[in-house]
Amino acid sequence: MYQIIDGKMISTQIKDECKERVAAYKEQGIDICLAVIQVGNDPASSVYVNNKKKACEYIGIRSLSYELPEETTQEELISLIEKLNADDSVNGILVQLPVPKHIDEDIIISTISPKKDVDGFHTQSVGALCIGQPGYVSCTPAGIIELLKRSNISIEGKECVVIGRSNIVGKPMSILMLRENATVTIAHSRTKDLKDICKRADILIVAIGRPEMITSEYIKDGAVVIDVGIHRRENNKLCGDVLFDDVAPHCSAITPVPGGVGPMTIAMLMKNCVDSVSLT
Ligand code: GUN
Repeated sequence: MYQIIDGKMISTQIKDECKERVAAYKEQGIDICLAVIQVGNDPASSVYVNNKKKACEYIGIRSLSYELPEETTQEELISLIEKLNADDSVNGILVQLPVPKHIDEDIIISTISPKKDVDGFHTQSVGALCIGQPGYVSCTPAGIIELLKRSNISIEGKECVVIGRSNIVGKPMSILMLRENATVTIAHSRTKDLKDICKRADILIVAIGRPEMITSEYIKDGAVVIDVGIHRRENNKLCGDVLFDDVAPHCSAITPVPGGVGPMTIAMLMKNCVDSVSLT
């Protein structure tokens, strides 16, 4: 029998812990504030941004919402971020990605003060992660570590394969697993013999962005499988990068889609916002 890793439950636990910490800070007269910026009105981004604002409300974090038109110039966005950097009442700044094509994402990320970089995307945050110094960690990979730890899955000494090398998930994920003393392999779209490599994994973390690509042929018996993908099928149902019904019987533990990794991203964003009080 396999364990289903319940991301919804674990994310609620984390949000409730944040809520208690926020209440304790309020008693000391400390308020936490997150500025959320969206440029344009991409429908998927609007859903994410709304969920982030709702989570803030649940936890007791003040959120400032900036919904900017698609035509906003890079200079206008930079001057808003600089204003928020200088505002001592703002703890965290989040620019929802992707930004419109005429705006350079890297420049925007590097404009956010590393002290307020609750997404953990700034080069300074990534660099700190790589050399084991304190700093903000990208929310989805940080959430996956929490899922494993809170499900009593030990990481130390395990063979971990991460499929995907994005700046937001794959790269920070592999560094975090290394920090937990796993032996880490990063695989990607150009990897040869992907099945053989995945079959070595005690812990397989899948972030390839291809619906249901990972079948039981990629799985070692008793592996832990973490599915970062989320896709909408023609029948309107959600699925991940892993073919769940085929893979699950071979696993010791697996995350479902929805209700696995997804809810952890916002929970860890909230944790980063609360942590900002002691990081600044
Ligand atoms: N777009 C997709 N995921 C994310 C995220 O975690 N943070 C931001 N800012 N934008 C995103």
